[in-house]
Amino acid sequence: MSSVMKRIARISAWLLLVCVVILLFSGWGITQTGTIYNLTFGLVDRRLANSIHSAAVLPLAFFFLLHVLINIRLSITSRRRYFVWLTNGVLIAIGVCILGLVVYMEYFLKGG
Ligand code: HEM
Repeated sequence: MSSVMKRIARISAWLLLVCVVILLFSGWGITQTGTIYNLTFGLVDRRLANSIHSAAVLPLAFFFLLHVLINIRLSITSRRRYFVWLTNGVLIAIGVCILGLVVYMEYFLKGG
């Protein structure tokens, strides 16, 4: 089981890195529109950069939580069954709450 989790933590790490790079460049597409517009040969204007930037938040949050929470879980070596169950439950609850908050902020909360 832990080798499968380690594999998921590593795959999500690289996908997380891709999301961070996309978020960074699309963010510059909003603040440094001319530079990114020229860099992408006129493909990415401010509107598209804004859409990409918003769309990248949820996958970034998902892969970040997967990568970090699994690595925290793998760093816990206790074999006591109740402690393992408690840890799994708490980490899953943290992940679901944070992901729920991101979904609410991104897709349900009207802009302030
Ligand atoms: C944006 C933030 C982060 C990015 C982009 C990221 C990316 C990566 C990458 C690319 C690897 C190498 C995966 C491989 O060996 O194939 C890695 C490994 C690792 N990361 Fe992160 N990471 C981030 C945040 C964190 C945080 C906050 C923690 C702390 C809990 C963490 C814990 C680890 C651990 C323990 C490993 C080694 C896992 C192993 O040996 O399999 N990372 N990370």
